[in-house]
Amino acid sequence: MDFKLTEEHIMIRDAARDFAKNELLPRVIERDEKQEFPKEQIKKMGELGFLGMMVSPEYGGGGMDTVSYVLAMEEISKIDASASVVMSVNNSLVCWGLEKFANEEQKQKYLTKLATGESIGAFCLSEPEAGSDATSQKTTAIEKEDHYVLNGTKNWITNGSTADFYIVIAQTHPELKHKGINAFIVEKGSKGFEIGPKEQKLGIRGSDTHSLNFNDVKVPKENRIGEDGFGFKFAMKTLSGGRIGIAAQALGIAAGAYELAREYSKVRKAFGTEIMNHQAIAFKLADMHTSIEASRHLVMKAACDKDNGENYDLSGAMAKLFASQTAMDVTVEAVQVHGGNGYVKEYHVERLMRDAKITQIYEGTSEIQKIVISRSILRD
Ligand code: CAA
Repeated sequence: MDFKLTEEHIMIRDAARDFAKNELLPRVIERDEKQEFPKEQIKKMGELGFLGMMVSPEYGGGGMDTVSYVLAMEEISKIDASASVVMSVNNSLVCWGLEKFANEEQKQKYLTKLATGESIGAFCLSEPEAGSDATSQKTTAIEKEDHYVLNGTKNWITNGSTADFYIVIAQTHPELKHKGINAFIVEKGSKGFEIGPKEQKLGIRGSDTHSLNFNDVKVPKENRIGEDGFGFKFAMKTLSGGRIGIAAQALGIAAGAYELAREYSKVRKAFGTEIMNHQAIAFKLADMHTSIEASRHLVMKAACDKDNGENYDLSGAMAKLFASQTAMDVTVEAVQVHGGNGYVKEYHVERLMRDAKITQIYEGTSEIQKIVISRSILRD
């Protein structure tokens, strides 16, 4: 496999790297502490085209490939995973699904705003009793004249209060099980649509995560995405691509922590020499570097599969499984390399360690990735 980057890829990666250093790094610790959404920074990311990278230019997007997207995701995630999850949800879970499956009218009305960052999107699948078990949707969407009536609760929704448009998955025909599920575009401010309190989280504390309540919310029929009953397939296909974005996020978190640990080991002295000269530290860095490179190969393979029109369910799940485990392992080791300083906020690695954990949970836990992988290798 040849993952040689083009000049354009390098330009995009460097632009994301500069943005992360100049715009995200300065207040990242403060935002984490205050659980503050990076509002201004997300606005700028929209202006720079990071929120609709893969959307065609005709709908206001950057028309870039998935490789460009994962490169940018990695760079943003090295510094601020709270900003990169907003980017990931908007690009992969909202814009991609709309461009691929929405009708022209829906694209003109919603995608054009989401791709430019003028509006932010959210993807609402998880429920109190339907996280991993996504077919068990309890939120209902009952058809009535020219609209659907939505009732139910969604949990752990990224961009929960900052989004303008929400893709909501709901059950219309319970007797048909997953074949009765639909996906809808719901606008913020719809009557009966309530945003619950913000979740107090271990990591990605700058991103805003909420539960959402739908109490007899009227959604026009023209806001259903695809044919009646297409909602579950829509969600699964969308999540397959989303997993590549989260794998890139995990890779970035790992790489960010590793780079900090490597540089620290060159300046911190113990027992009369820089700690990099102790094999105990050098071997840790060797292991970290190796697993990060392996993750990068898996992420690139999945991104290339998507760009080449190949099936990426398996490669995306493998990339997410491995990169998220790597993010966890590497960030723990990065704290260890920093010793006591690693436990202190100003050295950044403790935040990256807290941020890493979510990559093993959202967009399908590690156990879900293993279901997807094992089914694929055993049944195909
Ligand atoms: N593409 C297209 N269709 C797919 C598919 C895919 N990747 N995966 C499954 N399907 C289809 C199947 O073909 C099947 O269709 P038919 O009945 O027509 O054959 C249908 O969907 C049901 O599939 P399964 O029988 O495999 O369903 P299952 O109940 O065994 O579940 C699962 C499969 C993989 C476990 C799935 O439920 C799943 O992915 N769960 C995890 C959900 C998840 O990732 N949630 C995260 C929420 S979003 C989030 O975190 C966003 C955020 O805020 C950051």
